[in-house]
Amino acid sequence: MDAVKIKDGIYWVGALDWNARTFHGYSTQRGITYNAYLLLDDKITLIDTVKNIFTDELLERISSVVDPKKIDVIVSNHVEMDHSGALPAMRAICPDAQIYASGPSGVKGLTSHYGDLGVLPVKTGDSIKLGKRTLEFVGTPMLHWPDNMVTWCPEERVLFSNDAFGQHYATTQRFDDQCPLGQVMDEAQKYYGNILMCYEKQAMAAWEAVSKLGPEIIAPSHGVCWRSHVKDILDAYGLWGTNEPTGGALVVYDSMWHSTEKMALTILEAFASAGVDGKLLDLKDNHISDIIPQVLTHRYIAVGSPTLNNNMMPTVASFLCYLRGLSPKNRKAFAFGSFGWGGQSIKQVEDELRACGFDIILEMSRINYIPKEGDLQELRRKVMEAVH
Ligand code: FEO
Repeated sequence: MDAVKIKDGIYWVGALDWNARTFHGYSTQRGITYNAYLLLDDKITLIDTVKNIFTDELLERISSVVDPKKIDVIVSNHVEMDHSGALPAMRAICPDAQIYASGPSGVKGLTSHYGDLGVLPVKTGDSIKLGKRTLEFVGTPMLHWPDNMVTWCPEERVLFSNDAFGQHYATTQRFDDQCPLGQVMDEAQKYYGNILMCYEKQAMAAWEAVSKLGPEIIAPSHGVCWRSHVKDILDAYGLWGTNEPTGGALVVYDSMWHSTEKMALTILEAFASAGVDGKLLDLKDNHISDIIPQVLTHRYIAVGSPTLNNNMMPTVASFLCYLRGLSPKNRKAFAFGSFGWGGQSIKQVEDELRACGFDIILEMSRINYIPKEGDLQELRRKVMEAVH
């Protein structure tokens, strides 16, 4: 396994986790990459490492360029173990290398995970000289951990952005223009929605700082590097970071005997009749982490559940719990569902939508047992009225 040249003297030395299908519950259907980068200068420098089980792969790729024992500097942009997992092994191989992380959060986090590795703290504005090149550090706290920072090489105009601008995307290619752009952007949107959406203020601050730098290459710690579509990904972050949807409606539901499903279809048709493009998402068939990137861009969210054991369906509860944690804002919402006797679920869904901070545009719609044609016509009328 060889290193891949990113620019003269800069190599990708990361690892490919082809068959990873989940990351903390986020479905990763295209696998995961853990990117680390090697800079050859007077001081040989490693930026980030990989998940610990891929340490051998990291070492093999570094060894294809230089003896890992010769590394002088290691920058840890982020404590999370998908990037720092191989740090103790690197410390053992090159005991004199200077490790840098953000201070105090990065140093504290690394020490808590691995003991004292002799990490030096850096902060925004600090820089180190490697020889011909410089590395400048920019703190991006809470994007998405307290310790996050990005590292900028001004001579090369390369930004090592860690989680920001990443995608969970395993590929033998290393650049955006070597892959279908739609796939890369879809994965970047999914990554932003599931990992960064709830930190939109921090994301906007980082986006402004990064935009001012004017990078030629953005080298994240997941997925491919951006070189031909730097403006596209910066523009996309600028849009997603506003937490302001562009339009459209999502009708998200689960159903037991198709009654709530009939309501969902009627609601979808009502949106369409009101001129709002909609999508129907059955929670039995759609992973919640695939719905979140759509929440990022849609203004209306209708959520439906029948009542099961005095509660909403577990699939709906899971979706709403996840949604609330990610804090989308500026959405309009309402709850609906069929019920047999108790019917508690619909109020529970509405309460959760309120707790998300959404504007409830229609009082919850409940239909007993099987919806009649008249029930559905009335539901359609109410939804169209609420949307107008
Ligand atoms: Fe990719 Fe927050 O770790």
